Amino acid sequence: MTSNQNRPDRNLALELARVTEAAALAAARLVGRGDKIAADQAAVDAMRFVLDSVPMSGTVVIGEGEKDEAPMLYNGETIGDGSAPEVDIAVDPLEGTRLCALGMPSAIAVIALAERGTMFDPGPIVYMEKMAGNEEVADLLDLDRPIGETLKLVADRKGMGVGDVTVVMLDRPRHEQAMKDVREAGGRIKLITDGDVSAALLAVSDRSPVDLLYGIGGTPEGVITAAALKCMGGAIVGRLWARDETERQAAIDAGYDLSRILTTNDLCWGDDVFFSATGVTDGDVLQGVRYRGRGATTESLVMRSRSGTVRRVHATHDRSKLRAITGERYG
Ligand code: FBP
Repeated sequence: MTSNQNRPDRNLALELARVTEAAALAAARLVGRGDKIAADQAAVDAMRFVLDSVPMSGTVVIGEGEKDEAPMLYNGETIGDGSAPEVDIAVDPLEGTRLCALGMPSAIAVIALAERGTMFDPGPIVYMEKMAGNEEVADLLDLDRPIGETLKLVADRKGMGVGDVTVVMLDRPRHEQAMKDVREAGGRIKLITDGDVSAALLAVSDRSPVDLLYGIGGTPEGVITAAALKCMGGAIVGRLWARDETERQAAIDAGYDLSRILTTNDLCWGDDVFFSATGVTDGDVLQGVRYRGRGATTESLVMRSRSGTVRRVHATHDRSKLRAITGERYG
């Protein structure tokens, strides 16, 4: 192998940090303003603006919806200057629109990239049942085993009592039975109102107070989570979850198998995955945007699967200079 072959190539993850920083800075102007649509729009607009400066040939596969309802970052949109590499793009410019609008914890801006054709297409299915955990418990994740039994296996594996195992779950009526099962087994639950990508990152983080993510959440968020876990370790298992008979039939007609268990690799099978998330509001995983004088600070988690490098990027931004370059986008 020549030295050229050994030379590291361009790390798009670092370019993506600028993309999620921009989205977070834009959304952060609207934290606590009670308008989740405006906050999401600001994040989308800023993310799209900076993405244009990333040299690549990208196609949005997990985006803001179809073209007619989402004028930017819609599924199928092509982004970049057409140069290599060819990539799939999954975005959630503002995960936790309500969290941002209400000034609640853990709203983040997030993006993932992988080689062209290596991200799962959720088709018509909006929701997915998911379970995620770190590497230590990756082989124990199972959507068919009663969750109480999984908790006991996780406790044994981690050398603790089942009463110390904590599951993070979206607070939704559809999770009533699972909540009951976890508590009957003796486990604890951390309920969140929104944001299961952020919750999955928490479940796999070092020294996290959370052991598992469980519940039915967005399918796009499941794909983004898989991309993140390809980079930082841990695993997710998922199963598509139809809301009603019409959706179920539409999925079957489109060739989806609703009983299939999807692994991390089924959701994102690229070997060179890039991921970046920036905090909008303070959370357990990332600090949100903070303002001081003319400046603002951001914290981002920036990762690449091929190298396995996980970076925390703390950035200081000069808002007046940014405004001179980008207009009012970053306020
Ligand atoms: P938004 O980013 O669109 O606000 O969604 C946040 C979220 O909580 C996701 O993290 C989660 O996967 C999904 O919504 C759950 O959907 P629902 O609120 O319909 O239960």
